[in-house]
Amino acid sequence: MTYRDLRGFLDALGGDLRRIAEPMSPRFEIAAALRQARADAPALLFESVVGHPGWRVAGNLIANRKRLAQAFGSTPEALAEAYLERKQSGIDPVSTSDAPVKQVVATHGDDLLGALPILTHHERDGGPYITTGVVLCRDPASGRRGMGIHRMMVKGGRRLGLLLANPPLSLFHAAAEARGEPLEIAVSLGLEPAVVVASVVKVGPLVPDKMAVAGALRGAPVEMVDAETVALQVPARAEIVIEGRVLPGVREAEGPFGENTGAYFSNASPVIEVSAVTHRREPIYPGLTPWGNDVDMLLWLAAGTEMLGQLRAQVAGVVDLELTGGTAGFAMVVAVRGTPRTEVRRLIHLALALDKRLKMVTVVDDDVDIRDPRELAWAMATRLRPARDTVVIDGTEVYVIDPAGGAPGEGSKIGFDATRGSADAAFDKARLEPAALARVRAVLGDLMQ
Ligand SMILES: Cc1cc2nc3c(=O)[nH]c(=O)nc-3n(C[C@H](O)[C@H](O)[C@H](O)COP(=O)(O)O)c2cc1C
Repeated sequence: MTYRDLRGFLDALGGDLRRIAEPMSPRFEIAAALRQARADAPALLFESVVGHPGWRVAGNLIANRKRLAQAFGSTPEALAEAYLERKQSGIDPVSTSDAPVKQVVATHGDDLLGALPILTHHERDGGPYITTGVVLCRDPASGRRGMGIHRMMVKGGRRLGLLLANPPLSLFHAAAEARGEPLEIAVSLGLEPAVVVASVVKVGPLVPDKMAVAGALRGAPVEMVDAETVALQVPARAEIVIEGRVLPGVREAEGPFGENTGAYFSNASPVIEVSAVTHRREPIYPGLTPWGNDVDMLLWLAAGTEMLGQLRAQVAGVVDLELTGGTAGFAMVVAVRGTPRTEVRRLIHLALALDKRLKMVTVVDDDVDIRDPRELAWAMATRLRPARDTVVIDGTEVYVIDPAGGAPGEGSKIGFDATRGSADAAFDKARLEPAALARVRAVLGDLMQ
């Protein structure tokens, strides 16, 4: 079962949703709660937001694999395969006139954004930041829809700074700017997780519309309605939509902002002039703290699973893949079975080339638990011969928010082949005797891992 909207998902969580009645401030406090919440903590709904009566903030929504799987009507074990299968087709969005997001429409006044409890996250952030806004627009040349999550800084009045570091939106903006035109955009907030995940998936030429990917992932079309002040359609069941135009030829200081890397990043970025804010009654603002568990899960499904599908199609023996939490998708571990050393090397080059974000790849055998840091360290310490098994690629493009990056073309990437590479019994794991293990588990179970 998937959900029609964010409220449908929250209702289904039952005891896995904690309602917090204690007043909490959108300035630092809610972000601190979301960042420090354990991955296995329930989803959080802040029902009393200081300075924003009638508004609520939800977060920690997909902080672990169990809840992420629930968002897709799947299980933690089956989710990656379900994602890969569903993503093969697209389900186009449909238009509707039943649009809760239009219950409140604001187009007048200087402070259109003031009602929203936009969170301030870190001590040195330049201001409040929208972190989970799905930005929608159309290519001025082809009319093709594009969408992605892009950070937005509240600059006062009707203005938002917008980090456009990725296609397709960066390309659409460049095309509009070349014509001297503004780019119309609509920012959707408070969507069910399937649409949020689809917004950051890499799309191939066969399924060019991420809204169709969203439909495929949720098993039903996304319901859309015309925006108020821009020629775009927006998700009718979103909690909030911000409409506006990215101004041509304008760049302003944006940041600093504590990013998914856990470090601050500043930029000279384009500016949005907001023309309307629409929302539901008793709206729920979505919080997403950078460098947090939600981001790890979002990247794992949208980027990691995507990469798993691509690598499996090209290299025999690829079993599983994990993006290392907290690395903004820069570090990845792949488990293989029976893949020859030359093929592991090809896999490393392939993976590093497929995703510009990816900077470090480690390949291990599938007898290593790729989600256990101790096992990974063991494989690196005992199966890797550094001079032979390390691949360094210099002069590559690395991700703009990487503090170790440098200008495009200056970065470098690294891969480690920590597979055993031969049938040599010297690499066999020293196993415990199974009957003895079963007996001590029975007697001393509470002490055993
Ligand atoms: C949590 C999160 C935050 C992101 N923030 C930004 C951002 O501020 N600016 C940006 O250009 N891309 C950002 N991205 C990446 C884009 O949303 C994403 O690369 C793009 O939509 C993927 O589309 P493509 O690979 O099909 O081009 C973010 C992604 C995630 C998961």
